[in-house]
Amino acid sequence: MDEVLVIENLTVVYTKNGKRIKAVDRVDLKVNQGDMIGIVGESGSGKSTLAHAVMGLLPSNGFIAEGKIRLLGYEITRLNDDEMRKIRWKEFSMVFQKSMNALSPVHKIGEQMKEAVIVHEPEIGETEVESRMKKVLDMVNLPHRVLKSYPHELSGGMMQRVMIALALINNPKFVIFDEATTALDVVTQGQILDEIKNLVERLSLTGMVITHDIGVVAEICNKIAVMYAGRIVEEGPKEKILYDPLHPYTKALISSHPELAEGGGRMRGIPGNLPDLSKEIKGCVFAERCPHAEKICFDDRPGFVKISGRKVACFKIKEVEE
Ligand SMILES: Nc1ncnc2c1ncn2[C@@H]1O[C@H](COP(=O)(O)OP(=O)(O)O)[C@@H](O)[C@H]1O
Ligand SMILES: [Mg+2]
Repeated sequence: MDEVLVIENLTVVYTKNGKRIKAVDRVDLKVNQGDMIGIVGESGSGKSTLAHAVMGLLPSNGFIAEGKIRLLGYEITRLNDDEMRKIRWKEFSMVFQKSMNALSPVHKIGEQMKEAVIVHEPEIGETEVESRMKKVLDMVNLPHRVLKSYPHELSGGMMQRVMIALALINNPKFVIFDEATTALDVVTQGQILDEIKNLVERLSLTGMVITHDIGVVAEICNKIAVMYAGRIVEEGPKEKILYDPLHPYTKALISSHPELAEGGGRMRGIPGNLPDLSKEIKGCVFAERCPHAEKICFDDRPGFVKISGRKVACFKIKEVEE
């Protein structure tokens, strides 16, 4: 199977205080075998919502209003809870942004890892589980003694490594890393990013890396999709997006990154804020903040055009290029 994930016209809505927040707005996305696609965009763009929809883990006030998700041949949007439970964490898994809360504080790491295996393979023998746990701990550079530790005995970096080990223990075919290092100190962040990069290469992992930091995807991914206010605005091979960005938002994102911007970057943030997602946006979602925006950008939603090796949704692409 070449296409591992196919998302078509996906719209995800949250209801809150009587309002409807369109967190993901008609997104199309494909991930092929061996691709690690980076989903980048500032906080509030709908990246985690997209990931939760794929995992079938939207909160109770969130729902798929439109569209389809096919992952590893499963029609995710049609499966019921029981069917999802059988395949989630085995066929596909995720490392959360705030994964510290995902573990039980009263059980040792080893017990929780064992449980994660047994749920899907009740017949598996004790020694096989042991060796599998040790193998994934080795992969994330953790000593085997953490199996005997409780979560509170571990540092933030060790905990996040445990979460990565847990996501990988059943040898899933698709893995999502959602801001997997954001909550950590800078040094630990760098170490774990290197480890993820090595794992992605060594295990030829297919999946998504979600981050607000475009530097992270520069390290780990081969493709990038730039998301803004619930929509993908530009998508293509990593090199195209990083070194020849076309969408004004991608350009702004890259020029505000100290290491990617030419001349060292001046860390100039992008003026303005995300639009209100509870209001209907007729035109381009970035128009309010875009230096190139004209009437059409406020009036109509730009479709994707294929141009120099990537897809971009912008009416003013000719002007932007110059
Ligand atoms: N459980 C929720 N209930 C209501 N709104 C939510 C919920 N989760 C996220 N949102 C809103 O959906 C939008 C997208 O959020 P999110 O997917 O977390 O973005 P990102 O991961 O890119 O930061 C934001 O406006 C956020 O406030
Ligand atoms: Mg998020």
